[in-house]
Amino acid sequence: MTARSLQIAPSILAADFSRLGEQVTESLQAGVRRIHIDVMDGHFVPNITMGPLVVEALRPLAQRFDAVLEVHLMIEEPDRYLGDFRSAGAAAMTVHLEACPHLHRTVHSIRELNAQPGVALNPATPLVLLEDIVAEIDVALLMSVDPGFGGQKFIASTLDKVARLHKMLIDRGLEHVEIEVDGGVSESNIAELTRAGMTIAVAGTSVFNGHRSVAESVRVLHTACAVAPI
Ligand code: DX5
Ligand code: ZN
Repeated sequence: MTARSLQIAPSILAADFSRLGEQVTESLQAGVRRIHIDVMDGHFVPNITMGPLVVEALRPLAQRFDAVLEVHLMIEEPDRYLGDFRSAGAAAMTVHLEACPHLHRTVHSIRELNAQPGVALNPATPLVLLEDIVAEIDVALLMSVDPGFGGQKFIASTLDKVARLHKMLIDRGLEHVEIEVDGGVSESNIAELTRAGMTIAVAGTSVFNGHRSVAESVRVLHTACAVAPI
């Protein structure tokens, strides 16, 4: 199978927040067109991160490069905040299946706000739970670590889950739905994941780290899966 062009979505959770604009600009100059913003509430996950203010601060940069700001909402009751994130500039919003008792309604609220709806699954959540919502979404996000922190080890069984999701999408004629993988994605597993069907790779510490520049890290990831830069 030839992979469709892979998008790398740097997760700013791993960025140096004292130089956030600079680091995001560097990734955009390296060809990135999707910035991943991890929103955590200290309830759904054991960590607290950022909210709409950070999205708003990045909006001018995203507009300048025609890039998408995607929020990964690791929060309880995400419905309460969808409007705020949309107004701040989030063009894609991913909610956790585990946090949404009325997922169909939540997905449609995102669509009505004219944003791309995404649904995320924790590593232990069975793929079958996506079956009755997958036709309504633009992005299916598979967590490859337990959400809450950057820099964790990739859970190897995710590779098979990606392949099964890819098959689910093909069987239903839903190949346009993006398969996003989040957590521990690096140059050592990005090729296999892309071959299995991943179309968006979230990359935190493999993009924002001490050993390479942001631009070089983006290049290394593209080269590792032998997909031409965007
Ligand atoms: C984890 C977050 C991820 C995280 C990825 O809860 O959803 O987006 O920042 O970071 P790395 O790529 O370092 O695992
Ligand atoms: Zn994330």
